[in-house]
Amino acid sequence: MPKKEAAMTVEGRILTGHRPTGRRHLGHLLGTLQTWARLQQTYQCFFLIADYHVLTTDFDHPEDLQDNVLQVLLDWLAAGIDPQRSTILLQSALPEHAELALLLGMLITVPRLERNPTYKEQVQNLGLVERASLGLLAYPVLQAADILIYQADTVPVGEDQLPHVELTRELARRFNGLYGDFFPEPQPLLSPTPRVPGVDGRTMHTSYGNTIALSSSPAEIDKKVWAMVTDPARIHPRDPGHPDICPVNDYHQAFDAEAAEQYAQDCRQGAVSCVAHKKLISALLTERLEPYRRIRQEMTGREDEVLDILRQGSARAGALAQETLAQVRARMGLADLADLARRRVGIHNLEGKVFC
Ligand code: TRP
Repeated sequence: MPKKEAAMTVEGRILTGHRPTGRRHLGHLLGTLQTWARLQQTYQCFFLIADYHVLTTDFDHPEDLQDNVLQVLLDWLAAGIDPQRSTILLQSALPEHAELALLLGMLITVPRLERNPTYKEQVQNLGLVERASLGLLAYPVLQAADILIYQADTVPVGEDQLPHVELTRELARRFNGLYGDFFPEPQPLLSPTPRVPGVDGRTMHTSYGNTIALSSSPAEIDKKVWAMVTDPARIHPRDPGHPDICPVNDYHQAFDAEAAEQYAQDCRQGAVSCVAHKKLISALLTERLEPYRRIRQEMTGREDEVLDILRQGSARAGALAQETLAQVRARMGLADLADLARRRVGIHNLEGKVFC
């Protein structure tokens, strides 16, 4: 008898997302995407492509943005984000996010936002001291709107995003205190730190150019692995190595822990060369990334269909976002333009799928 699918127990509602900065890489896979794919089984999930957020720093590169949205979408689908189970949405297709951010912006002070560590870091790193935009300062307010507009209670994020979730909680409390209980105070769900560094040994990050993209071809993988810096003290193949400081070993551990132990021992004794180890890792990564590459290939030439997933997800999310926003507007004393709201809700009804 075919196994009955276990009834889905909904543990809560998740909203999380990525900024579309380009193709997703191994850091994203091991840090967030694998976790998200799993969480879909027990949570109602909203996965957001946060394209407004990209413009907080990259407003002067509009030419890349639309393709980057598509690349993120393709990688998410390849990594098992399932549009049948979860809602995938595009931030800029839902101006409700922007309106809620505007309204939440009334409830927070500028000095509080200036104290946000992520903002301080960005201003320093990008050398923006006198030129930081209002958009960058308000970044976490927009993020809070992304989360609160779906009344999400759980936000899976990496450690770097914790200050933003904290600020979201503050805004929810402040709103509830002023206008009555409405928003849940969302909890962060810490994603594991990716177990692999970038190919240069630093954190894997798009802006460092040290990533291995999920959709890499075998030749690209080979090139990246070849460029990896191994133990710098190891000059001759027979020198004893230090796998603990070697990215090649980290990759081996992440993708085949058992075999990695044996290689690490051999490396310490100078019984295996860095070149041999790299060849092995290149082959291993090529094999492990093959499914992602294949699924992506299957979607090549069907971009319009793929974007339909985003259209449908955004429409579904939009119905819920409008409901929240209508409540927020009313609680904050704004007029209810009922006829306008009805006209827009009507669009979603045509899809026959009002969500929630
Ligand atoms: N700031 C997040 C990042 O850079 C992206 C993001 C935007 C997000 N809105 C969100 C993450 C809401 C979680 C919830 O990774």
